[in-house]
Amino acid sequence: MTDHELLRLAAEAAKQAYAPYSKYPVGAALLMSDGTVFTGCNVENASYGLTLCAERAAVSAAVTGGRLKIVKVAIVGGTAQQLAWPCGACRQVLAEFCDQDTPVLVAARGRINRWLARTLGELLPESFRLKKRSHRE
Ligand code: THU
Repeated sequence: MTDHELLRLAAEAAKQAYAPYSKYPVGAALLMSDGTVFTGCNVENASYGLTLCAERAAVSAAVTGGRLKIVKVAIVGGTAQQLAWPCGACRQVLAEFCDQDTPVLVAARGRINRWLARTLGELLPESFRLKKRSHRE
């Protein structure tokens, strides 16, 4: 699974976004340690605060699928002008299932050829955890 393929899956997921209020569709794709991929899109609600972000939808799909170890994350969407950096809440939720060095690839809507990569540790240093970090960190 190349970076570009994972970004393409995130872009596909963004097409399913339910974002009638913000008109800011987001898709996330998670590559798991066994090579499987889970995706998610944002799901908004008339009661705005109940909105579910794409990253957390994807994490929920992975856990439901019995996979807990994320090795790469791709996030695509929003607008064509801005990279779709994950919100703080999603960074914390991703941290539960990622290592500090797990790559997070982000791209703007319709521009998956121009992505930036950061590690989860760069996006959320010293993240809160109750479980011990794995030996890889
Ligand atoms: N959104 C995500 O899906 N992921 C993020 O990390 C940031 C925000 C969604 C929530 C809402 O539907 C829209 O983007 C605008 O905030």
